[in-house]
Amino acid sequence: MRRTAILGTGAYAPERILTNADLEKMVETSDAWITERTGIKERRIAAPGELTSDMAVKAAVRALEMAHTRAEELDLIVMGTVSPDMPMPSSAVAVQAKLGAKRAFAFDVSAACAGSLYAMSIADQYIKSGSARRVLIIGAELLSRVVDWTDRNTCVLFGDAAGAMVLGPSDDPDRGILGIHLHSDGDAAGILTIRGGGSKFPQSPEVLENKLNKVSMNGREVYKYAVRALPEAVLEALGAQGLAADDVTHLIGHQANLRIIESVCDRLGLPLEKCWVNIQRYGNTSSASLPTTLDEANRAGRLHKGDIIAMMAIGAGMAWGAGVVRW
Ligand code: ACO
Repeated sequence: MRRTAILGTGAYAPERILTNADLEKMVETSDAWITERTGIKERRIAAPGELTSDMAVKAAVRALEMAHTRAEELDLIVMGTVSPDMPMPSSAVAVQAKLGAKRAFAFDVSAACAGSLYAMSIADQYIKSGSARRVLIIGAELLSRVVDWTDRNTCVLFGDAAGAMVLGPSDDPDRGILGIHLHSDGDAAGILTIRGGGSKFPQSPEVLENKLNKVSMNGREVYKYAVRALPEAVLEALGAQGLAADDVTHLIGHQANLRIIESVCDRLGLPLEKCWVNIQRYGNTSSASLPTTLDEANRAGRLHKGDIIAMMAIGAGMAWGAGVVRW
């Protein structure tokens, strides 16, 4: 069977660092509260004028370099984002133009923090079917512009970043993406939203006044959902390959919250050391989180041929899933 391999990874985070101490001056919070409840110490904030697609391009260039792939060779660009440059057209076409990926068709997927995993799954289908040979997937988020900086419930959590992967057919049928399993639950849509700016609440002075154009979240419900759904998804994805949690070499997960990651590891019986954690430095970067985390582990030389990598992500929708890759 034809399999999809990860040929290159790349990541980018803006230079400006916003620490918990900085946040203490902006809202009623403390470094101790944020650290204890989330594990986050600092996050990155995009420069004025920097766009989601600009960050995406920087991550993409690094992934393309590693994959020894020219932008002109790309057949498809799929970008996960909930903070696009603009509502229309997609940010993926902005990336396509900036990269000069003339042959590629390009579109965005909206699956919030699970966006990159959804994009990987789409890419996998195109590659396995033989319809595409080189696919760039990106998760890029400029959440600092959709966060309400007066809402301590949400503003301490998020950061800006982009991550990318170049995918293509694997030379070795045993290596590559073994499977990705995705789920959605629209009944839980209300627990994490940006309600304004679409057909339901079109932009208006009232939308701006009531901050409906900003992230709103029921953190406790999101937490409960994530710690139940993620371990189930990982076990489902492993089980489909005849694997168990013991077989996992690395768990690469969406960095929502350190407590969520710890709880998932605990439920799976995996030591935390098997999980690459960088939330302390970047916060929750939504769809960027999974590919940036993979890239960090990859560039640190931690991923070795034959390793079993379990991936997991969950976000607004709720949208979530897990995948298994043999590196
Ligand atoms: N600083 C200080 N106090 C705060 C802050 C803050 N930044 N935010 C909330 N509080 C207060 C609350 O007002 C509340 O005070 P009260 O008891 O006087 O009412 C108290 O802290 C406890 O609030 P809870 O919301 O119950 O705190 P909890 O322990 O649930 O932690 C958190 C909140 C960190 C948001 C947690 O629910 C969580 O991690 N949820 C998951 C959210 C998440 O990861 N979202 C990311 C997007 S979705 C995703 O990526 C999966």
